[in-house]
Amino acid sequence: MRVIGINGSPRKNKNSAILLEKALCGAAENGAETKLYHLIDHTFSGCRSCFACKRLGGASFGKCAVRDDLAPILDDILNADGLIISMPIYFGDVPGMVRNLMERLWFPGLLYRKDGKLAYEKNIRVGLIYTMNAPDERYYDALITSHKGTFERFFGETSILCATDTLQYDDYSLYTGDMFDPVHKKERHQTIFPQDCEKAHAMGASLLL
Ligand SMILES: Cc1cc2nc3c(=O)[nH]c(=O)nc-3n(C[C@H](O)[C@H](O)[C@H](O)COP(=O)(O)O)c2cc1C
Repeated sequence: MRVIGINGSPRKNKNSAILLEKALCGAAENGAETKLYHLIDHTFSGCRSCFACKRLGGASFGKCAVRDDLAPILDDILNADGLIISMPIYFGDVPGMVRNLMERLWFPGLLYRKDGKLAYEKNIRVGLIYTMNAPDERYYDALITSHKGTFERFFGETSILCATDTLQYDDYSLYTGDMFDPVHKKERHQTIFPQDCEKAHAMGASLLL
């Protein structure tokens, strides 16, 4: 059993990456082979609307034809049993590179058929982890519900974990802005974030059960 982890934050050792590592650790403890990709290490575009994935009789039918750094990652995901994507919220959405991944992951599966049949038949269990400055994940309910619905349509049961009010910098005094209370942020990072880490570990551990 193989679980792929995708870090959708450009930061390789902050909130999203830490939670992803905990989740992959949980999966590994339950016997999964795991692989972590940091999207920031790879150069790739979103869907190019070439429609090669829908071309009848074409060599790329049902798969993305674009051969950039994302191609082997997409192959790895589509052959896996589990997928965990951990990502920050950027301007009410996901970072552009995560959106690029989602387009390239979802679109080849879509056959535009009235009966809803997809090119993908493999069941892949999905975990989505969101991290954000916002104190309440309900701000992004529409986005998260939409992602859950799309992942469930293409792959399988999708669980969600949100870490809110995250610590953005280690030292707030070095950066502009008085919106955030550094003492509150630090306290929260020391008390709530470890609980989020435990939830991420549990998400990974139960992903393939
Ligand atoms: C470009 C940018 C845009 C952001 N936009 C939002 C936002 O719209 N809502 C929010 O709650 N947090 C926003 N944040 C904060 C991040 O989502 C938050 O700090 C997150 O935990 C960072 O994840 P990381 O530590 O894994 O990099 C933004 C951060 C950046 C850098």
